[in-house]
Amino acid sequence: MSNYTQEINRRRTFAIISHPDAGKTTLTEKFLLYGGAINLAGSVKGKATARHAVSDWMEIEKERGISVTSSVLQFEYDGYCINILDTPGHQDFSEDTYRTLMAADSAVMVIDASKGVEAQTRKLFKVCGMRGIPIFTFINKLDRDANDTFDLLDDIEKELGIATCPVNWPIGSGKAFQGVYDRESQCVISYSDTEKGTKEGVATEVPIKDEEHLRELIGNDAADKLLGEIELLDGASAEFDLDEVRAGRLTPVCFGSALTNFGVEIFLKHFLNMTTPPLPRMSDIGLIKPTEKEFSAFVFKIQANMNKAHRDRIAFMRICSGKFDAQMEVRHVQGNKVLRLSQPQQIMADERKILTEAYAGDIIGVFDPGIFSIGDTLCMPKEKFAYEGIPTFAPEHFARVRQIDTMKRKQFVKGIEQIAQEGAIQIFTEMTAGMEEVIVGVVGVLQFDVLKYRLENEYNVEIRLENLPYEHIRWIENKEEVNVEKLIGTSDMKKVKDMKGNPLLLFVNSWSIGMTLDRNKGLVLTEFSRN
Ligand code: G4P
Repeated sequence: MSNYTQEINRRRTFAIISHPDAGKTTLTEKFLLYGGAINLAGSVKGKATARHAVSDWMEIEKERGISVTSSVLQFEYDGYCINILDTPGHQDFSEDTYRTLMAADSAVMVIDASKGVEAQTRKLFKVCGMRGIPIFTFINKLDRDANDTFDLLDDIEKELGIATCPVNWPIGSGKAFQGVYDRESQCVISYSDTEKGTKEGVATEVPIKDEEHLRELIGNDAADKLLGEIELLDGASAEFDLDEVRAGRLTPVCFGSALTNFGVEIFLKHFLNMTTPPLPRMSDIGLIKPTEKEFSAFVFKIQANMNKAHRDRIAFMRICSGKFDAQMEVRHVQGNKVLRLSQPQQIMADERKILTEAYAGDIIGVFDPGIFSIGDTLCMPKEKFAYEGIPTFAPEHFARVRQIDTMKRKQFVKGIEQIAQEGAIQIFTEMTAGMEEVIVGVVGVLQFDVLKYRLENEYNVEIRLENLPYEHIRWIENKEEVNVEKLIGTSDMKKVKDMKGNPLLLFVNSWSIGMTLDRNKGLVLTEFSRN
Protein backbone atom coordinates (compact mmCIF):
# COMPACT_ATOMS: atom_id res chain seq x y z
CA MET A 1 0.00 0.00 0.00
CA SER A 2 1.40 3.32 -0.95
CA ASN A 3 1.86 5.95 1.65
CA TYR A 4 -0.97 8.05 0.36
CA THR A 5 -3.40 5.13 0.37
CA GLN A 6 -2.55 4.56 4.03
CA GLU A 7 -3.06 8.21 4.77
CA ILE A 8 -6.49 8.17 3.14
CA ASN A 9 -7.59 4.95 4.81
CA ARG A 10 -6.85 6.24 8.28
CA ARG A 11 -9.06 9.28 7.80
CA ARG A 12 -12.48 9.54 9.42
CA THR A 13 -14.55 12.54 8.48
CA PHE A 14 -17.80 13.07 10.31
CA ALA A 15 -20.28 15.69 11.41
CA ILE A 16 -21.92 15.95 14.80
CA ILE A 17 -25.62 16.63 14.68
CA SER A 18 -27.87 17.55 17.56
CA HIS A 19 -30.50 19.88 18.81
CA PRO A 20 -28.96 22.90 20.56
CA ASP A 21 -27.90 22.18 24.14
CA ALA A 22 -27.83 18.41 23.76
CA GLY A 23 -24.07 18.53 24.35
CA LYS A 24 -22.42 18.65 20.93
CA THR A 25 -19.77 21.17 21.98
CA THR A 26 -18.98 19.32 25.19
CA LEU A 27 -18.68 15.99 23.39
CA THR A 28 -16.43 17.52 20.72
CA GLU A 29 -14.19 18.94 23.43
CA LYS A 30 -13.92 15.53 25.06
CA PHE A 31 -12.98 13.93 21.75
CA LEU A 32 -10.22 16.50 21.41
CA LEU A 33 -9.16 15.77 24.94
CA TYR A 34 -8.78 12.06 24.24
CA GLY A 35 -6.98 12.88 21.03
CA GLY A 36 -4.47 14.85 23.05
CA ALA A 37 -5.28 17.97 21.06
CA ILE A 38 -5.99 19.74 24.32
CA ASN A 39 -4.88 19.11 27.86
CA LEU A 40 -7.95 19.66 29.88
CA ALA A 41 -11.43 19.63 28.46
CA GLY A 42 -12.87 23.07 28.35
CA SER A 43 -9.51 24.74 28.51
CA VAL A 44 -9.16 25.06 24.75
CA LYS A 45 -11.95 27.45 24.54
CA GLY A 46 -14.32 28.43 27.23
CA LYS A 47 -17.49 28.41 25.24
CA ALA A 48 -18.19 32.08 25.66
CA THR A 49 -14.77 33.19 24.48
CA ALA A 50 -14.61 30.56 21.78
CA ARG A 51 -17.74 31.85 20.20
CA HIS A 52 -16.18 35.23 19.80
CA ALA A 53 -12.78 33.99 18.77
CA VAL A 54 -14.05 31.56 16.19
CA SER A 55 -16.23 33.96 14.40
CA ASP A 56 -14.57 37.31 14.35
CA TRP A 57 -15.43 37.21 10.68
CA MET A 58 -18.85 38.53 11.06
CA GLU A 59 -19.73 41.32 13.39
CA ILE A 60 -23.21 40.03 13.69
CA GLU A 61 -21.96 36.87 15.29
CA LYS A 62 -20.15 38.88 17.88
CA GLU A 63 -23.18 40.94 18.61
CA ARG A 64 -25.34 37.91 19.06
CA GLY A 65 -22.65 35.80 20.71
CA ILE A 66 -23.43 32.85 18.53
CA SER A 67 -21.67 31.07 15.78
CA VAL A 68 -23.24 31.35 12.36
CA THR A 69 -20.32 29.81 10.57
CA SER A 70 -18.92 26.38 11.04
CA SER A 71 -15.40 25.10 11.23
CA VAL A 72 -13.44 21.88 10.98
CA LEU A 73 -11.41 20.25 13.71
CA GLN A 74 -8.66 17.80 12.88
CA PHE A 75 -6.92 15.60 15.42
CA GLU A 76 -5.21 12.26 15.78
CA TYR A 77 -6.48 9.39 17.90
CA ASP A 78 -5.29 5.79 18.01
CA GLY A 79 -3.73 5.97 14.55
CA TYR A 80 -6.76 7.65 13.00
CA CYS A 81 -6.74 11.12 11.54
CA ILE A 82 -10.10 12.56 12.48
CA ASN A 83 -11.91 15.46 10.86
CA ILE A 84 -14.91 16.73 12.78
CA LEU A 85 -17.17 18.99 10.81
CA ASP A 86 -18.69 21.39 13.23
CA THR A 87 -22.16 22.63 12.41
CA PRO A 88 -23.70 25.80 13.79
CA GLY A 89 -25.29 24.85 17.07
CA HIS A 90 -27.78 27.61 17.52
CA GLN A 91 -31.30 26.90 16.45
CA ASP A 92 -31.05 29.63 13.87
CA PHE A 93 -28.98 27.40 11.73
CA SER A 94 -28.61 27.91 8.01
CA GLU A 95 -28.43 25.97 4.81
CA ASP A 96 -24.71 25.66 5.46
CA THR A 97 -25.51 23.25 8.23
CA TYR A 98 -27.14 20.96 5.70
CA ARG A 99 -24.33 21.40 3.17
CA THR A 100 -21.74 20.49 5.76
CA LEU A 101 -23.42 17.11 5.98
CA MET A 102 -22.71 16.65 2.26
CA ALA A 103 -19.00 16.71 3.08
CA ALA A 104 -19.16 14.11 5.87
CA ASP A 105 -18.85 10.35 5.57
CA SER A 106 -20.82 9.68 8.72
CA ALA A 107 -22.61 11.51 11.49
CA VAL A 108 -22.66 11.36 15.25
CA MET A 109 -26.09 12.16 16.61
CA VAL A 110 -26.14 13.53 20.16
CA ILE A 111 -29.41 13.21 22.03
CA ASP A 112 -30.26 14.59 25.46
CA ALA A 113 -31.37 11.62 27.57
CA SER A 114 -34.10 13.63 29.25
CA LYS A 115 -35.51 14.96 26.00
CA GLY A 116 -35.21 12.29 23.32
CA VAL A 117 -35.34 13.24 19.64
CA GLU A 118 -35.86 17.01 19.17
CA ALA A 119 -36.82 19.19 16.22
CA GLN A 120 -33.42 20.12 14.86
CA THR A 121 -32.09 16.59 15.17
CA ARG A 122 -35.05 15.43 13.14
CA LYS A 123 -34.22 17.87 10.30
CA LEU A 124 -30.52 17.08 10.25
CA PHE A 125 -31.21 13.38 10.40
CA LYS A 126 -33.39 13.68 7.33
CA VAL A 127 -30.50 15.14 5.34
CA CYS A 128 -28.15 12.38 6.53
CA GLY A 129 -30.82 9.85 5.67
CA MET A 130 -31.03 11.21 2.15
CA ARG A 131 -27.39 10.28 1.64
CA GLY A 132 -27.58 6.98 3.46
CA ILE A 133 -24.48 7.70 5.53
CA PRO A 134 -23.85 5.81 8.78
CA ILE A 135 -25.23 7.46 11.91
CA PHE A 136 -23.92 6.79 15.40
CA THR A 137 -25.97 7.83 18.39
CA PHE A 138 -24.64 9.13 21.68
CA ILE A 139 -27.33 9.54 24.31
CA ASN A 140 -25.94 12.18 26.59
CA LYS A 141 -26.46 13.63 30.07
CA LEU A 142 -26.99 10.34 31.87
CA ASP A 143 -25.64 12.09 34.95
CA ARG A 144 -29.02 13.82 35.02
CA ASP A 145 -32.35 12.07 35.42
CA ALA A 146 -33.01 10.40 32.10
CA ASN A 147 -35.98 8.94 30.28
CA ASP A 148 -36.35 5.19 30.42
CA THR A 149 -33.66 3.59 28.27
CA PHE A 150 -36.04 1.42 26.25
CA ASP A 151 -38.29 4.45 25.67
CA LEU A 152 -35.33 6.45 24.35
CA LEU A 153 -34.55 3.75 21.81
CA ASP A 154 -38.20 3.48 20.86
CA ASP A 155 -38.32 7.22 20.32
CA ILE A 156 -35.40 7.10 17.88
CA GLU A 157 -36.92 4.21 15.96
CA LYS A 158 -40.38 5.77 15.71
CA GLU A 159 -39.35 9.38 15.18
CA LEU A 160 -36.52 8.79 12.75
CA GLY A 161 -37.39 5.45 11.24
CA ILE A 162 -33.99 3.90 11.87
CA ALA A 163 -33.35 0.66 13.76
CA THR A 164 -31.25 0.95 16.91
CA CYS A 165 -28.66 -1.35 18.37
CA PRO A 166 -27.34 -0.46 21.83
CA VAL A 167 -23.58 -0.87 22.05
CA ASN A 168 -23.66 -0.24 25.75
CA TRP A 169 -26.33 0.14 28.37
CA PRO A 170 -26.52 2.69 31.18
CA ILE A 171 -26.59 1.70 34.80
CA GLY A 172 -28.98 4.14 36.42
CA SER A 173 -29.20 7.82 35.69
CA GLY A 174 -28.91 11.10 37.57
CA LYS A 175 -27.33 10.70 40.97
CA ALA A 176 -27.65 6.94 40.58
CA PHE A 177 -25.66 6.81 37.33
CA GLN A 178 -22.82 4.40 37.90
CA GLY A 179 -21.46 3.58 34.50
CA VAL A 180 -22.27 1.45 31.51
CA TYR A 181 -22.46 -2.20 30.52
CA ASP A 182 -20.46 -2.85 27.36
CA ARG A 183 -22.25 -5.50 25.35
CA GLU A 184 -19.29 -6.56 23.28
CA SER A 185 -16.90 -7.24 26.14
CA GLN A 186 -19.82 -8.20 28.43
CA CYS A 187 -18.29 -6.12 31.17
CA VAL A 188 -19.65 -3.47 33.45
CA ILE A 189 -17.51 -0.37 33.43
CA SER A 190 -17.98 1.94 36.35
CA TYR A 191 -16.11 5.16 36.76
CA SER A 192 -14.47 6.82 39.68
CA ASP A 193 -15.38 10.40 40.46
CA THR A 194 -11.86 11.57 39.80
CA GLU A 195 -12.40 11.03 36.14
CA LYS A 196 -15.02 13.73 35.94
CA GLY A 197 -13.92 16.33 33.46
CA THR A 198 -10.39 15.04 33.00
CA LYS A 199 -8.78 12.24 31.11
CA GLU A 200 -7.14 10.72 34.13
CA GLY A 201 -8.99 8.66 36.65
CA VAL A 202 -9.76 5.00 36.76
CA ALA A 203 -12.52 2.93 35.34
CA THR A 204 -13.29 -0.36 37.05
CA GLU A 205 -14.25 -3.23 34.79
CA VAL A 206 -16.12 -6.29 35.99
CA PRO A 207 -17.39 -9.10 33.74
CA ILE A 208 -21.17 -9.42 33.96
CA LYS A 209 -20.72 -13.12 34.72
CA ASP A 210 -18.80 -12.29 37.88
CA GLU A 211 -22.01 -11.59 39.77
CA GLU A 212 -20.41 -11.37 43.17
CA HIS A 213 -18.09 -8.55 42.16
CA LEU A 214 -20.79 -6.93 40.08
CA ARG A 215 -23.08 -6.70 43.12
CA GLU A 216 -20.24 -5.37 45.19
CA LEU A 217 -19.48 -2.74 42.58
CA ILE A 218 -22.91 -1.37 41.74
CA GLY A 219 -25.11 -2.66 44.56
CA ASN A 220 -27.82 -5.31 44.58
CA ASP A 221 -30.69 -3.20 43.28
CA ALA A 222 -28.77 -1.82 40.31
CA ALA A 223 -27.37 -5.29 39.55
CA ASP A 224 -30.85 -6.89 39.56
CA LYS A 225 -32.22 -4.18 37.30
CA LEU A 226 -29.27 -4.42 34.92
CA LEU A 227 -29.39 -8.20 34.66
CA GLY A 228 -33.11 -8.03 33.90
CA GLU A 229 -32.62 -5.35 31.27
CA ILE A 230 -29.80 -7.22 29.56
CA GLU A 231 -31.98 -10.28 29.28
CA LEU A 232 -34.75 -8.21 27.72
CA LEU A 233 -32.32 -6.43 25.46
CA ASP A 234 -30.65 -9.53 24.14
CA GLY A 235 -34.07 -10.86 23.21
CA ALA A 236 -35.53 -7.65 21.76
CA SER A 237 -32.98 -5.42 20.09
CA ALA A 238 -31.93 -5.53 16.46
CA GLU A 239 -29.08 -7.85 15.66
CA PHE A 240 -25.87 -5.95 15.12
CA ASP A 241 -25.00 -5.84 11.43
CA LEU A 242 -22.16 -3.64 10.23
CA ASP A 243 -23.47 -3.55 6.68
CA GLU A 244 -26.78 -2.18 7.92
CA VAL A 245 -24.92 0.43 9.96
CA ARG A 246 -22.84 1.51 6.99
CA ALA A 247 -25.95 1.75 4.83
CA GLY A 248 -27.49 4.12 7.39
CA ARG A 249 -30.33 1.77 8.30
CA LEU A 250 -29.17 0.79 11.79
CA THR A 251 -27.69 3.13 14.34
CA PRO A 252 -25.38 1.87 17.08
CA VAL A 253 -26.29 3.61 20.34
CA CYS A 254 -23.99 4.49 23.23
CA PHE A 255 -24.98 6.05 26.52
CA GLY A 256 -22.90 8.39 28.60
CA SER A 257 -22.28 11.81 29.94
CA ALA A 258 -20.03 14.12 27.99
CA LEU A 259 -19.71 16.51 30.90
CA THR A 260 -18.37 13.94 33.31
CA ASN A 261 -16.63 11.80 30.66
CA PHE A 262 -18.69 8.71 31.39
CA GLY A 263 -18.71 6.53 28.31
CA VAL A 264 -17.12 9.05 25.96
CA GLU A 265 -13.91 7.20 25.15
CA ILE A 266 -15.74 3.88 24.76
CA PHE A 267 -18.05 5.57 22.34
CA LEU A 268 -15.17 7.09 20.38
CA LYS A 269 -13.45 3.70 20.12
CA HIS A 270 -16.57 1.86 18.99
CA PHE A 271 -17.42 4.62 16.60
CA LEU A 272 -13.99 4.64 14.96
CA ASN A 273 -14.10 0.88 14.67
CA MET A 274 -17.42 0.86 12.91
CA THR A 275 -17.40 3.97 10.78
CA THR A 276 -15.97 4.13 7.28
CA PRO A 277 -12.85 5.66 5.78
CA PRO A 278 -13.56 8.29 3.09
CA LEU A 279 -16.40 7.10 0.87
CA PRO A 280 -16.48 7.12 -2.93
CA ARG A 281 -18.43 9.99 -4.53
CA MET A 282 -20.67 10.04 -7.56
CA SER A 283 -19.57 12.12 -10.55
CA ASP A 284 -20.67 12.45 -14.15
CA ILE A 285 -18.13 9.77 -15.09
CA GLY A 286 -19.30 7.39 -12.36
CA LEU A 287 -18.21 6.67 -8.81
CA ILE A 288 -14.77 8.03 -7.91
CA LYS A 289 -12.96 6.10 -5.23
CA PRO A 290 -10.83 8.13 -2.79
CA THR A 291 -7.70 6.14 -3.53
CA GLU A 292 -8.25 5.41 -7.18
CA LYS A 293 -7.76 8.86 -8.68
CA GLU A 294 -5.45 11.75 -8.29
CA PHE A 295 -6.57 14.84 -6.43
CA SER A 296 -10.18 15.91 -6.75
CA ALA A 297 -12.47 17.92 -4.50
CA PHE A 298 -15.78 19.74 -4.41
CA VAL A 299 -16.77 23.04 -2.85
CA PHE A 300 -19.47 22.70 -0.20
CA LYS A 301 -19.39 26.05 1.50
CA ILE A 302 -18.34 29.59 0.79
CA GLN A 303 -17.59 31.87 3.67
CA ALA A 304 -17.77 35.50 2.73
CA ASN A 305 -16.35 38.47 4.48
CA MET A 306 -13.45 36.86 6.28
CA ASN A 307 -11.66 40.13 5.88
CA LYS A 308 -14.05 43.02 5.58
CA ALA A 309 -11.53 45.37 4.02
CA HIS A 310 -11.07 43.10 1.02
CA ARG A 311 -14.48 41.53 0.82
CA ASP A 312 -12.64 38.24 0.45
CA ARG A 313 -14.14 34.83 0.51
CA ILE A 314 -12.94 31.41 1.56
CA ALA A 315 -14.18 28.37 -0.34
CA PHE A 316 -14.29 25.21 1.75
CA MET A 317 -13.74 22.05 -0.15
CA ARG A 318 -13.85 18.40 0.67
CA ILE A 319 -11.06 16.41 -0.89
CA CYS A 320 -12.67 13.36 -2.48
CA SER A 321 -9.66 11.59 -3.94
CA GLY A 322 -5.90 11.56 -3.90
CA LYS A 323 -3.47 13.94 -2.33
CA PHE A 324 -3.46 17.69 -2.37
CA ASP A 325 -0.17 19.51 -2.61
CA ALA A 326 -0.08 23.30 -2.27
CA GLN A 327 2.27 23.61 -5.24
CA MET A 328 0.17 21.80 -7.77
CA GLU A 329 -2.09 23.16 -10.43
CA VAL A 330 -5.69 22.04 -10.50
CA ARG A 331 -8.59 22.39 -12.89
CA HIS A 332 -11.65 24.29 -11.78
CA VAL A 333 -14.13 22.38 -13.89
CA GLN A 334 -17.09 24.79 -13.85
CA GLY A 335 -14.85 27.78 -14.59
CA ASN A 336 -12.87 25.73 -17.14
CA LYS A 337 -9.58 27.13 -15.84
CA VAL A 338 -6.37 25.63 -14.57
CA LEU A 339 -5.13 27.41 -11.47
CA ARG A 340 -3.14 27.09 -8.29
CA LEU A 341 -5.26 27.14 -5.14
CA SER A 342 -4.34 30.20 -3.21
CA GLN A 343 -3.51 30.14 0.52
CA PRO A 344 -4.77 26.62 1.20
CA GLN A 345 -5.55 26.40 4.86
CA GLN A 346 -7.10 24.37 7.53
CA ILE A 347 -9.57 26.31 9.55
CA MET A 348 -9.71 25.16 13.13
CA ALA A 349 -11.88 27.20 15.40
CA ASP A 350 -10.02 30.48 15.71
CA GLU A 351 -6.85 29.22 14.13
CA ARG A 352 -5.94 29.14 10.50
CA LYS A 353 -3.05 26.94 9.56
CA ILE A 354 -1.49 27.14 6.12
CA LEU A 355 -1.32 23.66 4.62
CA THR A 356 1.24 22.13 2.36
CA GLU A 357 -0.55 18.83 1.83
CA ALA A 358 -3.84 17.14 2.55
CA TYR A 359 -5.59 13.90 1.62
CA ALA A 360 -8.96 12.56 0.56
CA GLY A 361 -11.28 12.97 3.52
CA ASP A 362 -9.75 16.27 4.58
CA ILE A 363 -11.41 19.64 4.35
CA ILE A 364 -9.44 22.63 3.16
CA GLY A 365 -10.28 26.27 2.82
CA VAL A 366 -8.81 28.26 -0.05
CA PHE A 367 -8.89 31.91 -0.91
CA ASP A 368 -11.68 32.57 -3.37
CA PRO A 369 -11.39 35.62 -5.60
CA GLY A 370 -15.08 35.20 -6.42
CA ILE A 371 -14.82 32.36 -8.93
CA PHE A 372 -16.16 29.39 -7.00
CA SER A 373 -19.76 28.37 -6.47
CA ILE A 374 -21.17 25.77 -4.14
CA GLY A 375 -20.94 22.33 -5.69
CA ASP A 376 -18.01 23.15 -8.02
CA THR A 377 -15.46 20.44 -8.78
CA LEU A 378 -11.67 20.70 -8.76
CA CYS A 379 -9.52 18.00 -10.28
CA MET A 380 -6.19 17.46 -12.01
CA PRO A 381 -5.56 19.61 -15.12
CA LYS A 382 -5.78 16.70 -17.56
CA GLU A 383 -9.12 15.51 -16.17
CA LYS A 384 -12.53 16.99 -16.64
CA PHE A 385 -15.33 15.55 -14.58
CA ALA A 386 -17.87 17.03 -12.22
CA TYR A 387 -19.09 15.71 -8.91
CA GLU A 388 -22.79 15.44 -8.36
CA GLY A 389 -24.09 18.84 -7.29
CA ILE A 390 -25.12 19.76 -3.79
CA PRO A 391 -28.87 19.94 -3.52
CA THR A 392 -30.63 23.17 -2.70
CA PHE A 393 -32.64 22.61 0.45
CA ALA A 394 -36.08 23.95 1.08
CA PRO A 395 -36.06 27.20 3.06
CA GLU A 396 -38.66 27.43 5.80
CA HIS A 397 -38.98 31.18 6.28
CA PHE A 398 -39.85 33.71 3.61
CA ALA A 399 -39.92 37.46 3.35
CA ARG A 400 -40.57 39.99 0.63
CA VAL A 401 -37.58 42.30 0.36
CA ARG A 402 -37.44 45.84 -1.00
CA GLN A 403 -34.72 48.43 -1.03
CA ILE A 404 -35.71 51.60 0.82
CA ASP A 405 -33.98 53.97 -1.59
CA THR A 406 -35.45 53.04 -4.98
CA MET A 407 -32.50 54.71 -6.72
CA LYS A 408 -30.28 51.95 -5.45
CA ARG A 409 -31.96 49.15 -7.37
CA LYS A 410 -28.71 48.18 -9.11
CA GLN A 411 -26.65 47.79 -5.94
CA PHE A 412 -29.57 45.99 -4.33
CA VAL A 413 -29.84 43.44 -7.12
CA LYS A 414 -26.06 42.97 -7.27
CA GLY A 415 -25.77 42.53 -3.51
CA ILE A 416 -28.65 40.18 -3.09
CA GLU A 417 -27.55 38.08 -6.06
CA GLN A 418 -24.00 37.80 -4.77
CA ILE A 419 -25.15 36.82 -1.29
CA ALA A 420 -27.51 34.28 -2.81
CA GLN A 421 -24.67 32.90 -4.93
CA GLU A 422 -22.67 32.24 -1.78
CA GLY A 423 -25.62 30.19 -0.62
CA ALA A 424 -26.57 32.08 2.54
CA ILE A 425 -30.04 32.85 1.23
CA GLN A 426 -32.22 31.84 -1.69
CA ILE A 427 -34.02 34.36 -3.81
CA PHE A 428 -37.21 33.93 -5.72
CA THR A 429 -39.26 36.18 -7.90
CA GLU A 430 -42.99 36.31 -8.17
CA MET A 431 -44.16 35.06 -11.52
CA THR A 432 -47.30 37.10 -11.80
CA ALA A 433 -46.46 40.51 -10.40
CA GLY A 434 -46.22 43.42 -12.84
CA MET A 435 -42.97 44.56 -11.32
CA GLU A 436 -40.65 41.79 -10.33
CA GLU A 437 -40.88 41.32 -6.58
CA VAL A 438 -38.04 39.64 -4.74
CA ILE A 439 -38.80 37.02 -2.12
CA VAL A 440 -36.03 35.73 0.09
CA GLY A 441 -36.13 32.27 1.57
CA VAL A 442 -33.91 31.09 4.42
CA VAL A 443 -33.45 27.91 6.42
CA GLY A 444 -32.89 29.79 9.71
CA VAL A 445 -34.40 33.20 10.46
CA LEU A 446 -31.06 34.62 11.54
CA GLN A 447 -30.12 34.73 7.88
CA PHE A 448 -32.60 37.58 7.43
CA ASP A 449 -30.55 39.68 9.84
CA VAL A 450 -27.34 38.60 8.16
CA LEU A 451 -28.76 39.69 4.80
CA LYS A 452 -29.90 43.07 6.11
CA TYR A 453 -26.59 43.65 7.83
CA ARG A 454 -24.48 42.65 4.87
CA LEU A 455 -26.46 44.68 2.35
CA GLU A 456 -26.06 47.75 4.54
CA ASN A 457 -22.41 47.20 5.33
CA GLU A 458 -21.07 45.83 2.10
CA TYR A 459 -23.38 47.28 -0.52
CA ASN A 460 -24.65 50.38 1.22
CA VAL A 461 -28.26 49.42 0.60
CA GLU A 462 -30.95 49.60 3.22
CA ILE A 463 -33.78 47.14 2.89
CA ARG A 464 -37.18 46.47 4.34
CA LEU A 465 -38.22 42.90 4.99
CA GLU A 466 -41.85 41.94 5.12
CA ASN A 467 -42.36 38.49 6.58
CA LEU A 468 -44.55 36.17 4.57
CA PRO A 469 -46.64 33.37 6.09
CA TYR A 470 -45.22 30.58 3.93
CA GLU A 471 -43.48 27.69 5.63
CA HIS A 472 -43.01 25.21 2.84
CA ILE A 473 -41.54 25.40 -0.61
CA ARG A 474 -41.62 22.67 -3.20
CA TRP A 475 -39.83 22.26 -6.49
CA ILE A 476 -41.78 20.72 -9.33
CA GLU A 477 -39.91 17.56 -10.16
CA ASN A 478 -41.72 16.91 -13.44
CA LYS A 479 -41.83 20.52 -14.60
CA GLU A 480 -41.56 19.50 -18.25
CA GLU A 481 -44.83 17.62 -18.01
CA VAL A 482 -46.73 20.20 -15.98
CA ASN A 483 -48.27 23.42 -17.18
CA VAL A 484 -47.40 25.61 -14.21
CA GLU A 485 -49.71 28.42 -15.36
CA LYS A 486 -52.66 26.08 -15.17
CA LEU A 487 -51.84 24.43 -11.84
CA ILE A 488 -54.76 24.64 -9.45
CA GLY A 489 -53.52 25.22 -5.94
CA THR A 490 -55.13 26.35 -2.71
CA SER A 491 -55.96 30.06 -2.46
CA ASP A 492 -52.96 30.74 -0.22
CA MET A 493 -50.46 29.04 -2.54
CA LYS A 494 -47.97 31.23 -4.42
CA LYS A 495 -46.09 30.45 -7.64
CA VAL A 496 -42.52 31.74 -7.82
CA LYS A 497 -39.31 31.20 -9.81
CA ASP A 498 -35.81 30.61 -8.50
CA MET A 499 -32.67 32.25 -9.89
CA LYS A 500 -32.36 29.61 -12.57
CA GLY A 501 -35.94 30.07 -13.70
CA ASN A 502 -37.26 26.87 -12.13
CA PRO A 503 -40.91 27.08 -11.07
CA LEU A 504 -41.66 26.57 -7.39
CA LEU A 505 -44.69 26.59 -5.16
CA LEU A 506 -44.96 28.25 -1.75
CA PHE A 507 -47.39 26.89 0.82
CA VAL A 508 -48.57 28.08 4.20
CA ASN A 509 -49.05 24.59 5.62
CA SER A 510 -48.62 20.98 4.71
CA TRP A 511 -52.37 20.58 4.28
CA SER A 512 -52.20 22.92 1.26
CA ILE A 513 -49.46 20.76 -0.25
CA GLY A 514 -51.68 17.71 0.05
CA MET A 515 -54.67 19.55 -1.46
CA THR A 516 -52.59 20.80 -4.39
CA LEU A 517 -51.28 17.31 -5.09
CA ASP A 518 -54.85 15.99 -4.97
CA ARG A 519 -56.10 18.64 -7.38
CA ASN A 520 -53.32 18.14 -9.91
CA LYS A 521 -52.95 14.48 -10.68
CA GLY A 522 -49.47 13.54 -11.81
CA LEU A 523 -47.79 16.55 -10.15
CA VAL A 524 -44.54 15.55 -8.41
CA LEU A 525 -43.14 17.92 -5.75
CA THR A 526 -39.75 17.69 -4.01
CA GLU A 527 -38.22 19.23 -0.92
CA PHE A 528 -34.83 19.82 -2.49
CA SER A 529 -33.54 20.61 -5.94
CA ARG A 530 -30.61 19.14 -7.77
CA ASN A 531 -30.94 21.59 -10.66
P1 G4P B 1 -24.54 22.11 22.24
O1 G4P B 1 -23.17 22.33 21.70
O2 G4P B 1 -25.19 20.87 21.73
O3 G4P B 1 -25.43 23.30 22.16
O4 G4P B 1 -24.40 21.81 23.81
P2 G4P B 1 -23.23 22.13 24.81
O5 G4P B 1 -22.14 21.14 24.70
O6 G4P B 1 -22.91 23.55 24.74
O7 G4P B 1 -23.98 21.81 26.17
C1 G4P B 1 -25.14 22.52 26.57
C2 G4P B 1 -25.22 22.54 28.09
O8 G4P B 1 -25.35 21.20 28.57
C3 G4P B 1 -23.97 23.09 28.75
O9 G4P B 1 -24.37 23.73 29.95
C4 G4P B 1 -23.16 21.85 29.07
O10 G4P B 1 -22.26 22.04 30.13
C5 G4P B 1 -24.27 20.90 29.45
N1 G4P B 1 -23.88 19.49 29.22
C6 G4P B 1 -23.28 18.92 28.16
N2 G4P B 1 -23.10 17.60 28.36
C7 G4P B 1 -23.60 17.32 29.57
C8 G4P B 1 -23.70 16.13 30.35
O11 G4P B 1 -23.27 15.06 29.97
N3 G4P B 1 -24.29 16.26 31.57
C9 G4P B 1 -24.77 17.43 32.04
N4 G4P B 1 -25.31 17.44 33.25
N5 G4P B 1 -24.67 18.58 31.35
C10 G4P B 1 -24.11 18.52 30.12
P3 G4P B 1 -24.57 25.27 30.07
O12 G4P B 1 -24.82 25.53 31.51
O13 G4P B 1 -25.60 25.71 29.10
O14 G4P B 1 -23.24 25.85 29.52
P4 G4P B 1 -21.85 25.97 30.26
O15 G4P B 1 -21.93 27.31 30.89
O16 G4P B 1 -21.76 24.86 31.25
O17 G4P B 1 -20.85 25.89 29.19
